[in-house]
Amino acid sequence: MSFLGIDLGTSSVKLLLLNKAGTVLRTVSKEYPVYYPKVGWAEQSPIDWWNAVREGIREILTEPQNMPSKVEGIGLSGQMHGLVLLDKDNHVLMPALLWCDQRTQDECDELSERLGPKLSEYTGNKALTGFTAPKVLWVRKNRPEIYEQIEHVLLPKDYIRWKLTGEYATDTSDASGTLFFDVGHRCWSSEMLNILGLSEEKLPTCYESYEVTGSLTKQAAQETGLHSGTIVVGGGGDQASGAVGTGVVTVGTVSVALGTSGVVFACQENYSVDSENRLHSFCHANGKWHVMGVMLSAASCLKWWVEEVCQLDDAGYAALLEEAARVSPGSEGLLFLPYLMGERTPYSDPNARGTFVGLTMTHGRGHMTRAILEGVGFGLRDSLEIIREQNIPVHEVRVSGGGAKSVLWRQILADILGLPIHVVNSVEGPAFGAAILAAVGAGEFAGVEEACGVMIKTVEQTEPIAANIEKYNSLYGVYHQLYGALQDSFEKLSVI
Ligand code: XUL
Repeated sequence: MSFLGIDLGTSSVKLLLLNKAGTVLRTVSKEYPVYYPKVGWAEQSPIDWWNAVREGIREILTEPQNMPSKVEGIGLSGQMHGLVLLDKDNHVLMPALLWCDQRTQDECDELSERLGPKLSEYTGNKALTGFTAPKVLWVRKNRPEIYEQIEHVLLPKDYIRWKLTGEYATDTSDASGTLFFDVGHRCWSSEMLNILGLSEEKLPTCYESYEVTGSLTKQAAQETGLHSGTIVVGGGGDQASGAVGTGVVTVGTVSVALGTSGVVFACQENYSVDSENRLHSFCHANGKWHVMGVMLSAASCLKWWVEEVCQLDDAGYAALLEEAARVSPGSEGLLFLPYLMGERTPYSDPNARGTFVGLTMTHGRGHMTRAILEGVGFGLRDSLEIIREQNIPVHEVRVSGGGAKSVLWRQILADILGLPIHVVNSVEGPAFGAAILAAVGAGEFAGVEEACGVMIKTVEQTEPIAANIEKYNSLYGVYHQLYGALQDSFEKLSVI
């Protein structure tokens, strides 16, 4: 028997077939475009998503050992916070507004001013441009003719669920990123729905990530080649599913995702919120909660440096990382602030900028490369420090994402965070997690923790080096002061 994980990402959908022992049988990925109709806007077509998913499923089933009859369950994961609107005939009313769309600063300010601390009481979070609620307000204000026709509000992966099962449903982890979900009580927030002018009937039914939400319709079976009646579980937002995919489902284990963005994710037994809402407080896919800090630029800082600034190709990464490895920890007093796209955690500031501080004649390319790796490490530490401030235990870090392939970057992270860094056997992240959730929903395991225990193992461990910890501790003090010192200048630069 196998389980199909589908992760609806921003640039592509990744599909993965997993057996009960945790072996990946096959992966397929299908791309689709992102549209940027204006500066700061980011949209996609839900129809493109469905076409890619449908083709991807057909392709994954082409090998004889991956027979449709063997697929016991499907788990969905996806980009969070996006807004999909359907009318009474289930037609898509407008392109989906994505998590990285920045058009809603006015609506965020309006919510923050109107609600003050009540916003966090209702939702566990503060208003960020990426979240769904400000997008609904934007549509109400700027596209009233569309707002009037809204019959169903869905998150991106849940549009795929509707196409597969005909059910309007979501899961608690993805719902947490809407800013109209009561994260503490794991249900829609009636207060927020009132403010948005939406009735609960327009929202999907909320399930836990491992619960069955429906099964494949005959029509979806015809379109995909799967068997009708195949179950579809709740699944999760990409971060919660990714954490399941690296086994970050118990308190004390923290996941660091070094992808385009950088995410520090810690499980919690009980719901809690930090007083300033610097971290997102969301439901986890194992029925508990998690907190999360999101840096907008992480591995993308290295990509920018290698490809845009140094104008090198793939081979250039290895050459630059070798140069950086020859530079001593601390880059001889050179620091890099990684805010190339503004920042979300700990400073939600779209105007924050990337910066090198401390350049001298003795610094060369190797120092600058190393400073970038260290700057991303310090940015991740900012989130980890807030997690520690909340007395959430942190014993082990599991690292994933493209940046985690670098041995040097893993050592720098271990030294900056002062913690052992583990790499686990699963590298597929969210799609792997979604398939695990499907296995739990199909009754193959008693719970998410048990499934992760069977399927996920540490394969490499990097220990921190005591002398480097000390050095980085003092440098972190300097790094941490820099944003405050430069904030004003960042703001002035943003209007030039
Ligand atoms: C999470 C977040 C991203 C998106 C896109 O808060 O914004 O993970 O889900 O991947």
